[in-house]
Amino acid sequence: MTSAQRGQPRFERLLVTGGAGFIGSCFARDVLARRDGTHITVLDKMTYAGNPANLAPITSDPEQAARFRLVVGDIADPAVVAPLVAQADAVINFAAESHVDRSILDPEAFLRTDVLGVHVLLEACRVEQTRAAAGHRERSPRFLQVSTDEVYGSVETGESREDDRLEPRSPYSAAKAAGELLVNSYVVTYGLDAVLTRGSNTYGPYQHPEKLIPLFLTNAIGDQQLPLYGDGLQRRDWLYVADHAGAIGHVLEHGVTGQAYNVGGGNERTNREIVTLLLDRLGKPWSLVRQVEDRPGHDRRYAMSSSKLAALGWQNKVTFEAGLAATIDWFAANDAWWRPIKSGEWETYYSRQYGARLAGSSKASQ
Ligand SMILES: NC(=O)c1ccc[n+]([C@@H]2O[C@H](COP(=O)([O-])OP(=O)(O)OC[C@H]3O[C@@H](n4cnc5c(N)ncnc54)[C@H](O)[C@@H]3O)[C@@H](O)[C@H]2O)c1
Repeated sequence: MTSAQRGQPRFERLLVTGGAGFIGSCFARDVLARRDGTHITVLDKMTYAGNPANLAPITSDPEQAARFRLVVGDIADPAVVAPLVAQADAVINFAAESHVDRSILDPEAFLRTDVLGVHVLLEACRVEQTRAAAGHRERSPRFLQVSTDEVYGSVETGESREDDRLEPRSPYSAAKAAGELLVNSYVVTYGLDAVLTRGSNTYGPYQHPEKLIPLFLTNAIGDQQLPLYGDGLQRRDWLYVADHAGAIGHVLEHGVTGQAYNVGGGNERTNREIVTLLLDRLGKPWSLVRQVEDRPGHDRRYAMSSSKLAALGWQNKVTFEAGLAATIDWFAANDAWWRPIKSGEWETYYSRQYGARLAGSSKASQ
């Protein structure tokens, strides 16, 4: 009887790269909290976005801590990656430079991690595939690349499907698309066992305050201005982080090699609508909102069909209303988590990104 038939996960030893960030840490926390014997090694470079506090629920629980290891290192460093992949049944790659605005300020770091880093991970998997073929390990590791709906570019109408053309329009999404193409090439050329997920805009506890929802939440809690790009009518499909992490786990277990799966939230909202909901729940006034110069090349809308993932047997569990309420309440209750992040390097970034914009901003009409 296989582990899947016994109802147990197929993969017992996971290498979770970028697991100290927002979505990767949620994945690690949720998998280890199942207490089904799964072991996780997180490999994380601990950039400004990596945070050991995101893993505290694991490390403070002796049973989970015994099945967990954190390695600080770079996915683009083959010497670090090779021995870790050698010990893994599956590699789930969350590691990325992930913020579009930073990719406009400094694209090079994105190419290094989101393209070269993916290549190093794939090469390590290929070595393990050869070892498996030679009988030195039971099977080659499965590789899951966590990608994004942004690779489809701006979608004015309708919904992106997995076979649509990739038309990335920012350095971030171009780097993510390049990473995807490399994964595909390793499936076709070397027969590597790899799958892809394309998630939509994700929100929830532990998200770095550079991203829209936590930025506006933490600014509003501190009665600071909220810099709303342009007319604020950009549309995003919002996905709760535990659903995103759960869908990735489902694709890891059940996805077909070489296939990509959209992971949508089914909750399309304009940025203005999001701001209104946040302010209402916090009891803060709209007068905090400032209309600032838009992001260059700002994609107007993302929307995906998730019917392929539904056919694979996955359904989201958290409604937008419940997820947003939980997120707002978490940030309101956990300023000890986010206040330290909004200092030091943050202040340099914030003034570079928003200083001139806020100085030239106008009152945002409601
Ligand atoms: N946040 C979203 O809305 C969203 C939506 C769809 C897909 N994604 C994708 O999901 C993944 C995770 O996103 P996130 O929001 O959790 O990002 P994040 O920025 O919160 O975390 C990224 C993590 O990767 C680590 N990292 C960066 N470069 C590294 C390197 N070279 N080697 C090892 N670790 C490195 C960072 O230290 C950090 O812990 C990314 O691949 C992103 O493209 C994110």
